[in-house]
Amino acid sequence: MTTYRITLLPGDGIGPEITAVARQLLEVVSHRHGFSLVFDEQPIGGAAIDACGEPLPASTLAACKAGDAVLLAAIGSPRFDALPRSQRPETGLLGLRAGLQLFANLRPVTIIPALADASSLRPEVIEGVDLMVVRELTGGIYFGQPKGRIEADGHVRAFNTMVYSDHEIDRIARVGFDLAMQRGRRLCSVDKANVLDVSQLWRDRVTAMSSDYPSVELSHMYVDNAAMQLVRAPKQFDVLLTGNLFGDILSDEAAMLTGSIGMLPSASLGSEGPGLFEPVHGSAPDIAGQDKANPMAMVLSAAMMLRVGLKQEEAAAALESAVDRALANGYRTGDLMADGCTQLGCRAMGEQLLAALEA
Ligand code: IPM
Ligand code: MG
Repeated sequence: MTTYRITLLPGDGIGPEITAVARQLLEVVSHRHGFSLVFDEQPIGGAAIDACGEPLPASTLAACKAGDAVLLAAIGSPRFDALPRSQRPETGLLGLRAGLQLFANLRPVTIIPALADASSLRPEVIEGVDLMVVRELTGGIYFGQPKGRIEADGHVRAFNTMVYSDHEIDRIARVGFDLAMQRGRRLCSVDKANVLDVSQLWRDRVTAMSSDYPSVELSHMYVDNAAMQLVRAPKQFDVLLTGNLFGDILSDEAAMLTGSIGMLPSASLGSEGPGLFEPVHGSAPDIAGQDKANPMAMVLSAAMMLRVGLKQEEAAAALESAVDRALANGYRTGDLMADGCTQLGCRAMGEQLLAALEA
């Protein structure tokens, strides 16, 4: 029997609660589909600061490199906001992305029919939305040098650098074009080329690559317009290709089309080595430990891990239909609650997902 090693990173806040649900479902679905999973649980983020004094211990990174895939829940806690940046939970996540060279972040946004009313947009605007945000993840202003904070002439100055090299743009653009080929063959590259030099280079490189993909319809959009179009007419998008910062912002916006950020999974991939699979949402410290979290983005991230990371398509589809079925049966976590539905906590939702999986 094939065995995969999964590095499990529960992290902070609601992370451990949603991880417990995903793990249980993964155990059932792997058994059912004839492979086995070995879990290696490691600390990251605030949990790692508490346990080891740093947000990404070398042992955690080494374990991630050694496994077949990494499943991460969420990191971050206001408890650490006052620490220097190098010791904050977020730095652990950025270090992991850089350490595994996960330059391509894929954030699919689809509307689950049972949740059409959960969106703040009208049902006819979001019905049929099926888009993919392709976000560059290891470059841009998140990692650019120089950066820092200096004091001079009685003033404090802080700065970051938004920088992309041709090869960084090319490799993420290729991911975008390839995905467009597998989907609706429309690629919209998002930048701020009317103002930023780095965006002009981005646009030039993406345009140059389009001659390799004559059947993909390429368009360019400024990021401010893209933010507007996402809520005005989201169906126009198939694949959205963009840099690290714009992708961070637009993917949260796109996530809300579904009604809750608690539904969206993501995959972060490099050119080799294990991928990282994590929900788009954060650690939700305000509801942590209260059994209120929505575990579905985590379960859908586990499904993405099965499909993209382990090539176990049937098991992935089984997890996804368990989510669909539990929702169709009227079960909701608080973030999605609607008239006539049954509100459940994280654990009880996990049990319904399990029941739906076994049905
Ligand atoms: C995300 C998150 C992270 C990011 C934070 C937690 C560092 O917002 O994955 O979108 O900004 O990339
Ligand atoms: Mg974000």
